Amino acid sequence: YSIYSDCKLMLDKVKPINKRASGQAFEVILKAQSPMSDGNHNLPSPPKRAISLEDIEKKLEAAEERRKYQESQVLRALAEKREHERDVLLKAMEENSNFSKMAEEKLQMKMEQIKENREALLAAMIERLQEKRHAAVVRRNKELREELAA
Ligand SMILES: *[C@@H]1O[C@H](CO)[C@@H](O)[C@H](O)[C@H]1NC(C)=O
Repeated sequence: YSIYSDCKLMLDKVKPINKRASGQAFEVILKAQSPMSDGNHNLPSPPKRAISLEDIEKKLEAAEERRKYQESQVLRALAEKREHERDVLLKAMEENSNFSKMAEEKLQMKMEQIKENREALLAAMIERLQEKRHAAVVRRNKELREELAA
């Protein structure tokens, strides 16, 4: 192949632009690197030698390392996602538990209040009954004394 194939960039065109009174300017257009000219071809390298078994093994090992690394990255991302989902779930459960606890406490307080009110009402009714009975006894005693005196 030509010596240019060892160059990373190849001169494609030289196109005159923007002609001014002072002189001329040129746009230098460089040919894009073709995918076929990838790799060692682009570097000024020592003469090619035959690909050895060792080279192949090294490349396979490198590919295996890359695959393992990518796999570990995917697994790590999945683990992080699961952990985040677990955190969200735990927080929701905690909120739910807090809400239940608060509702239970409120209900407990309300029931306590109702019980106290009922007890106070009962106590007041008993007191009034006792007063009535006492008044009745006093009245009866007075009537008896008056009857005896008569
Ligand atoms: C639940 O209640 C606890 C204690 O009352 C509080 O520390 C915590 O922040 C609450 N959690 C949520 C998610 O509201």
